[in-house]
Amino acid sequence: MLTTKRLIIRPIEKLDYDDICEYGSDEEPSQYMLYWPKSKEEVEKYIDNCIDKIKSTNLSELIWREYVMELRDEGKVIGNISLQTRGNEAELGWISNKRYWNKGYMTEAVNAIIDYAFNMLGIKRIFATCNDKNIASFKVMEKSKMVKIRTDINHKSYRRGVEVTYNRLIYCIENM
Ligand SMILES: CC(C)(COP(=O)(O)OP(=O)(O)OC[C@H]1O[C@@H](n2cnc3c(N)ncnc32)[C@H](O)[C@@H]1OP(=O)(O)O)[C@@H](O)C(=O)NCCC(=O)NCCS
Repeated sequence: MLTTKRLIIRPIEKLDYDDICEYGSDEEPSQYMLYWPKSKEEVEKYIDNCIDKIKSTNLSELIWREYVMELRDEGKVIGNISLQTRGNEAELGWISNKRYWNKGYMTEAVNAIIDYAFNMLGIKRIFATCNDKNIASFKVMEKSKMVKIRTDINHKSYRRGVEVTYNRLIYCIENM
């Protein structure tokens, strides 16, 4: 568990279901995301899947750690951050409740997770990607001292089974 000025950052738990449904089943935060929104049933399965994945300890494999950020004052979960590691590289992803946007919460959480990954998990390089229209997301990357290393123009992917094309920004931070 990590503690910052306003947040507790900890592995996802079954009890987080109601708070996660508030933003995970909302179309607006998910407009630039490939795997969200989720129906309430999908959120339940997702949490179970994350809990199973966190138990994995084989460092040569992809390890998926799904964290939540909880407001220290209210005990409310307002966002998720995923950290997927393979060897000494990692990729971050995030989503949060729109009622709490633009207050610096995600930047606070991401900075703490980057420090943790570098200092406690031995990670050397962390990546994050987003749609170039997703200003809030690449602002979080820049405020976390990540640097844009590439833009994939007309990147193709699938969003809930439908092909989508977008300009994908790739950011990175290295542990010097
Ligand atoms: C991305 C997200 C997690 C950011 O969370 P957050 O707690 O609001 O982030 P922060 O407050 O730390 O930083 C957001 C920054 O973007 C800025 N921002 C947001 N929308 C903006 C816009 N339309 N134009 C310019 N700046 C904008 C904010 O002002 C803030 O920067 P500042 O601190 O310099 O003022 C949240 O917007 C979200 O859940 N979005 C939907 C999910 C998503 O897209 N996830 C990423 C997929 S790759």
